[in-house]
Amino acid sequence: MALTNTSDGYGAFTKFFHWVIVLLFAWQYVSGNIMTGMERDDIVGGLTQNHYYNWHKSIGLVALAIAIFRLINRYLGQLPPWAPTLSDGEKRFIHRAEQVLYLAMFVMPITGYIYVMAGGFGVMLFGEWRLPNPIGRSETLADIGKWVHIVTGYVLAAAVLGHLFVVFRHQFFMRDGLLRRMLPGRRG
Ligand code: HEM
Ligand code: HEM
Repeated sequence: MALTNTSDGYGAFTKFFHWVIVLLFAWQYVSGNIMTGMERDDIVGGLTQNHYYNWHKSIGLVALAIAIFRLINRYLGQLPPWAPTLSDGEKRFIHRAEQVLYLAMFVMPITGYIYVMAGGFGVMLFGEWRLPNPIGRSETLADIGKWVHIVTGYVLAAAVLGHLFVVFRHQFFMRDGLLRRMLPGRRG
């Protein structure tokens, strides 16, 4: 299997980054909802609210680094041809959904970062290292960052649901093996 995308299918980097982002984003949604729904002294799953905030911010910044590599990787190779079983309408939908997914991979961590820095909360990376605050305090900027973060979270969730709908419809109802295009090995 080639490292970057070729006319034969997605490369190893694309597949690896795709599934790592799926895992990291699943954590971001779970932790984001737990931490905003609990009280300061609560313990959920053995973790305090402070732990959840720290790990949400830290993993979110790791996801930003991966999104940068992922975007570079997308431009390095050539995109594989469309799966032959996709209709024209599905191709247009997938194209738009992927633009939203890529955009959200950057907007989510950047707005989260702006919110916590401008709001004066800061980032204690993995509970160990306090990151410098290059933004400074600004209530207005913090509010904008927070609301764009929350609203984009819903837009991203809708795009992921649409993405899953197309993949599962093909995989389980049309049984054309679309999922294999993103699985290890040159099987697409
Ligand atoms: C990388 C992808 C990220 C995703 C998918 C994500 C997702 C979420 C979600 C779903 C919530 C709950 C929103 C709600 O209240 O309904 C949330 C909240 C939050 N996120 Fe993120 N996040 C990401 C990155 C980050 C980063 C990098 C930071 C900071 C450095 C951050 C800081 C926060 C904070 C402080 C909240 C609480 C907002 C509030 O008080 O309501 N997030 N995030
Ligand atoms: C369990 C959840 C998921 C499954 C089963 C899944 C499955 C797939 C499959 C099978 C493809 C290849 C489609 C094709 O033939 O072109 C694909 C592509 C893609 N997926 Fe997902 N996906 C999931 C979640 C996500 C998430 C959470 C994101 C982004 C936040 C995402 C972003 C993308 C993108 C951008 C592509 C196009 C290829 C690329 O440039 O990376 N997927 N996905």
